[in-house]
Amino acid sequence: MLDKLMRKKTAMSEGLLSDRIANVKKGQIPAHVAIIMDGNGRWAKQRNLPRIAGHHEGMKTVRKITRIANDLGIEVLTLYAFSTENWKRPKLEIDFLMKLPGEFLSTYLPELIEKNVKVEMIGNVEMLPEHTKKAIRKAMEATKDNDGMTLNFAMNYGSRLELVEALKKIATLVDDGSLQVDDIDESIISSYLMTAHLPEPDLLIRTSGEVRLSNFMLWQLAYAELSFTSVLWPDFDEACMIQAMEEFQLRHRRFGSVEGEGTI
Ligand code: FPP
Repeated sequence: MLDKLMRKKTAMSEGLLSDRIANVKKGQIPAHVAIIMDGNGRWAKQRNLPRIAGHHEGMKTVRKITRIANDLGIEVLTLYAFSTENWKRPKLEIDFLMKLPGEFLSTYLPELIEKNVKVEMIGNVEMLPEHTKKAIRKAMEATKDNDGMTLNFAMNYGSRLELVEALKKIATLVDDGSLQVDDIDESIISSYLMTAHLPEPDLLIRTSGEVRLSNFMLWQLAYAELSFTSVLWPDFDEACMIQAMEEFQLRHRRFGSVEGEGTI
């Protein structure tokens, strides 16, 4: 009896979700969604599990959210998977995190290929262990001609380091005379970032109740809508993603201008 009721309830909420998905698709879909996937450790702690169990569950959420993002028509999904600061974590946890791209891609690469998803990465690849580099490079190579959604992993990524590197390259150009200081503008700086070929994020989502950017895409997020949810990343599901989209569609993006034509 209880079982029957539960099935009915699930079917009803799934029905409702598909209606919400259909509705969201009628509105403006953000071209680029960036996500700070936070709360894996707390999810594990709540269940008396080791932190790595939370990261493993978080990997399953990556699959879920990649699927729905692709289905919604999002062009770029950037996921903050490992920051330049995360090297300060215990070695065991780092080793585990470094294995996740390999596990994820060895399981889901065929599906990503089939769905026309292009895998990319931002961050310093050189410092990653060989097996992590290999898994990411293989996925990038296998999907390089895909022209559907870009699934962009930020691995060993830090925004300040990215800006420092960009500024060094620009300074070299000034130094050798191929660029004038007066010609440096926003578009020049953007063009030396790792995201040069991508649109800027329209929406940033951070899970787990933390309300900060943690050195993530500081330049690129200048005009993004910000969405913070207390849901822990392993619990972030399709309904949470749809809720973020619904909220995004209610926002009025003005990019610093005023709405309407009148002046004071
Ligand atoms: C932050 O949560 C999360 C991370 C540092 C790692 C995020 C990685 C994944 C979600 C899996 C990535 C999957 C692939 C395929 C690359 P936290 O550990 O800081 O959580 P806490 O704040 O609750 O301790």
